[in-house]
Amino acid sequence: MKNETALNQSPALKTGEKGRNIERLVGLLGDPVSHTLSPAMQNAAFQALDTGCRYLAFPVRAEDFERAMEGLAALGAVGTNITVPHKERAFRWVRRLDPSAARTGAVNTVLFSEEGGTGYNTDVAGIRTALAPLSPRRNNALVLGAGGAARAAVCALQDEGFAHIGIMNRTRERAETLRTQLFTVNSSKLPKCEILSFEGTPSFIPDLLVNTTSLGMHDTPWPKDLLDTVISLAKGGAVLDLVYAHGRETPLCDRAHRSGIKAVSGQEVLLHQGTAAFKLFTGMAAPVEIMRAALQKGNS
Ligand code: ATR
Repeated sequence: MKNETALNQSPALKTGEKGRNIERLVGLLGDPVSHTLSPAMQNAAFQALDTGCRYLAFPVRAEDFERAMEGLAALGAVGTNITVPHKERAFRWVRRLDPSAARTGAVNTVLFSEEGGTGYNTDVAGIRTALAPLSPRRNNALVLGAGGAARAAVCALQDEGFAHIGIMNRTRERAETLRTQLFTVNSSKLPKCEILSFEGTPSFIPDLLVNTTSLGMHDTPWPKDLLDTVISLAKGGAVLDLVYAHGRETPLCDRAHRSGIKAVSGQEVLLHQGTAAFKLFTGMAAPVEIMRAALQKGNS
């Protein structure tokens, strides 16, 4: 049984290590990682604050994941980010879980120490910060998808105080599993949850629609009818699309903006999960605007 105690967000970098000759490694493990903007974003911040850290992305196949983590720990890495498809594997690998990871069942940030790896999830905080400028009414939310990103989104919406959350997914069983795991804690504060198919109509008008599916990524285009349906559902609210697209708007954000709906893309979520991870890696407040500029430069 893992230790799920509340962990001090203690800095991984001890004072005295800052500025020394040997750079300390911070990793990113995923598959693929060739398109990722995280190294540009994190290295800009590491340099700006003279942390002595270097962020490197490594493509790692699922069967090599555990060996890669052991290798990073042996190299004295400060920590690592974890991206698709390894977040659940990382959850199983770490010795200790911060509550942010324990509740979502996914780890996107690991800090290494003598005691082993500690797993965190900064996606929830990233989603909460990204949706702030949309200032939606915290009443009804509709989440498209039921995978790992949907879990983080549902936790974020619960924390934001939404009263009613609909989960719309292609595969109903997956949405039901998510509901069982995230909505059955014995607490009267939990929002109501409704499961829908893509053909279904929610019993409420969403104040916020969150896309956590792969729809809109370059290799997964939206079926036109579904995009039309989703835009008509979002008319009374705002859109947070967890997808981000290089050098252009995502198809969902583009349609939303053209329909007069406020929308924010996954680039803001990437930024804010990254600023929370930076704080864990270094113990310092993240230079948000430097990180945003690095993302925008990498994305242009
Ligand atoms: P992530 O960790 O990024 O959430 P994931 O766990 O693989 O990735 O989840 C991907 C989500 O996108 C799922 O909700 C998936 O639907 P299924 O549960 O039915 O697989 C959804 N998804 C992926 N491709 C899709 C498509 N072509 N049409 C509709 N939904 C899709």
